[in-house]
Amino acid sequence: MVKELLRSHTSVRKYTGEKISKETVQDLIETAQMAATSHFVQAYSVIWVTDEEKQQKLGELSNNPFQFQTAGAAFLFCVDFKRLQIAGQKQGVEIVADSAENVLVGVADVALFAQNFVIAAESEGYGICYIGGARNNPEEISELFDLPDYVFPLFAMTIGTPTKRNEAKPRLPLDAVLHENSYDVEKYDQLLDAYDATLEQYYASRSSNQKIANWTKQMADFLIEQRRPFIKDFLAKKGFTWK
Ligand SMILES: Cc1cc2nc3c(=O)[nH]c(=O)nc-3n(C[C@H](O)[C@H](O)[C@H](O)COP(=O)(O)O)c2cc1C
Repeated sequence: MVKELLRSHTSVRKYTGEKISKETVQDLIETAQMAATSHFVQAYSVIWVTDEEKQQKLGELSNNPFQFQTAGAAFLFCVDFKRLQIAGQKQGVEIVADSAENVLVGVADVALFAQNFVIAAESEGYGICYIGGARNNPEEISELFDLPDYVFPLFAMTIGTPTKRNEAKPRLPLDAVLHENSYDVEKYDQLLDAYDATLEQYYASRSSNQKIANWTKQMADFLIEQRRPFIKDFLAKKGFTWK
């Protein structure tokens, strides 16, 4: 049952607009909190955006306004070392928050927490969409939600009752991601050709937004230049200089 749920995941970007109750949100967040967390640091905070104006602004700043308009709830998931700094101060210690390692720890913690939230929400029939677009304007978003130093937005998320569910998007072939005992770079040439063919067929025949596209071209177009080059400076302003 859990596996079927996981295998049927698709992102949802259009919802009925029906608001999600406080009780449901609290239940989903508490469930998410049971995700494993590196060294028990629990380095995440989530802003539940109930103010309509802020929700709309978050959509605009994320360059994804459309799904925020119909969402039943919207969230901003943040890496959080502020609470850990305060924990240290309670013990008379100034913690070393600023390190590349802590950024990795925080990102892993938020991702696991968020994905637990997603699975819990999908198990109740809701649809979700992660919004990495929240990193397009991280300074403005930090200001909008009063994020202090040592707290930065990793992604936003919309959730709601779907108006329609897309067909599941085929993932890479198993052999492309599963290596036995040692990493095999040789196998990609063939496997990626096969995957391009699979995705070309998927994009050409899916029920909405049909297009001519394949995976290697999509990835090449996406990664041809540095993405969000301002992030390093933004993180430094938040207290993470990658020491
Ligand atoms: C961290 C993260 C950030 C994402 N950001 C966006 C986004 O800004 N806008 C969007 O429409 N989808 C976003 N997505 C959704 C992905 O595009 C989607 O998961 C991927 O294309 C696979 O499709 P599926 O989720 O329907 O299987 C994001 C997903 C993740 C995990």
